Amino acid sequence: MGKIRVGVVGVGRGGMMMSYCEKEQHAKLVAICDKWAEGLELKKNELNDPDISYYTDFDEFLKQDMDVVMLANYAHQHAPFAIKAMRAGFHVISEVLPCLTMKEAVELIETIEQTGKTYCYAENYCYMPGPYEMRRLYKAGVIGELDYCEGEYVHNCEDGWTSLTYGDPKHWRNLMHSTFYCTHSLGPLVHISGQRPVRVSGFEFLFNDANVRMGRKCRGGLEMVTFEGGATGKSIHGDLQRNNISYIIYGTKGRLETARECTQMGDVSKIYVEYNEVEGDYSTCKREVYDPKADKWEVAKQFGHGGSDYYCIWNALEKIAGNPDADAIDVYEAMDMHLPGMFAHRSILAGGIPMDIPDLRDPAERDKWRNDTTCVIPEVAGDMLVPAYSKGDIPIPDEVFERRQREWQQHHTQR
Ligand SMILES: NC(=O)c1ccc[n+]([C@@H]2O[C@H](COP(=O)([O-])OP(=O)(O)OC[C@H]3O[C@@H](n4cnc5c(N)ncnc54)[C@H](O)[C@@H]3O)[C@@H](O)[C@H]2O)c1
Repeated sequence: MGKIRVGVVGVGRGGMMMSYCEKEQHAKLVAICDKWAEGLELKKNELNDPDISYYTDFDEFLKQDMDVVMLANYAHQHAPFAIKAMRAGFHVISEVLPCLTMKEAVELIETIEQTGKTYCYAENYCYMPGPYEMRRLYKAGVIGELDYCEGEYVHNCEDGWTSLTYGDPKHWRNLMHSTFYCTHSLGPLVHISGQRPVRVSGFEFLFNDANVRMGRKCRGGLEMVTFEGGATGKSIHGDLQRNNISYIIYGTKGRLETARECTQMGDVSKIYVEYNEVEGDYSTCKREVYDPKADKWEVAKQFGHGGSDYYCIWNALEKIAGNPDADAIDVYEAMDMHLPGMFAHRSILAGGIPMDIPDLRDPAERDKWRNDTTCVIPEVAGDMLVPAYSKGDIPIPDEVFERRQREWQQHHTQR
């Protein structure tokens, strides 16, 4: 295969995918789509490349001659866009999250199976240096079998909320339930251990003044998960008043752990390794602290999220190119990362009781869910609409959005 011809949807986060294509030899950017005409024009001027085609309409974009569609459109609309793109003959790399409802999850999986197209889920946090090295060590059996784990992705977005939501009360970041954006914290735990979460209890952050100031229904939450081997884990994500990223895996022989980003001791680029070479024999204990660096670090470090953006897209494109060593995240693993958040929300609405997480690898299981549109978006949910917050919608004054819209009008070229 020659250069992989790439079309990108969404000029915000999609900008990272565009820079990737500029820097890496195996990909070539051929088209960009965004319904925001002004943003598209800004991108056109910035790139100044006559070989790139620009579209404001997704259906027109799908007529472009290309190989891969990279989706960086709204996070709750990825599945319908991915399905359309694959039906039009393209491979797909999807930003987080993979789908909004169980109906979409089933349709997405079956479209991939029917079309034979490659779908890669771009959960970049799995590829950060720390968690990626933890995966290598776990697979090598260094700490034995999974016993307990934790993932934390806490990102205080209040200061940048206007550029993220443009003061739109209907923006997905304002509307979604607390446990929607769960794969930055839970995803690496799944990718490291290779285990499927089978049961979840959900908890949501308090609705407080920060919700009102930002104009959002939910700021985040947590999932207490049971994995298929019986181990338990905690995933916490969303907006609290400070930031942190960190991961811990306890096994039957020891522990792997990243530094906590917030301590400024090397963040998730540093790992702490402690294990008994012989299980149960503490005289064989080994300890190491180091900064793992994968191949191509000099290139990768120029990209965001600790270089993970680079490795994530590189592996996805190599998978599409047929490289058997590419470590891409397929749709089944994407659901292992995402469905715990969806069912944590159901758990929260039911008072915190545990929920079984379906395994959609099993075609028989899909039939139970293929008409399930349960979600917080009225146009998608129909008569299965549920509230984002367990105590119902707490009103946010119009003035909050009006103020953010005014701010956006003044500074919007920053998007
Ligand atoms: N993995 C990460 O670290 C990371 C970081 C930031 C954002 N993201 C993801 O990237 C995606 C985009 O986020 P964002 O921050 O750029 O903000 P966003 O969700 O506001 O931007 C989406 C863009 O898609 C465009 N769009 C929406 N519907 C469209 C349609 N029908 N046709 C054409 N264009 C359409 C919008 O105009 C907008 O420019 C989200 O899915 C988000 O979850 C991931």
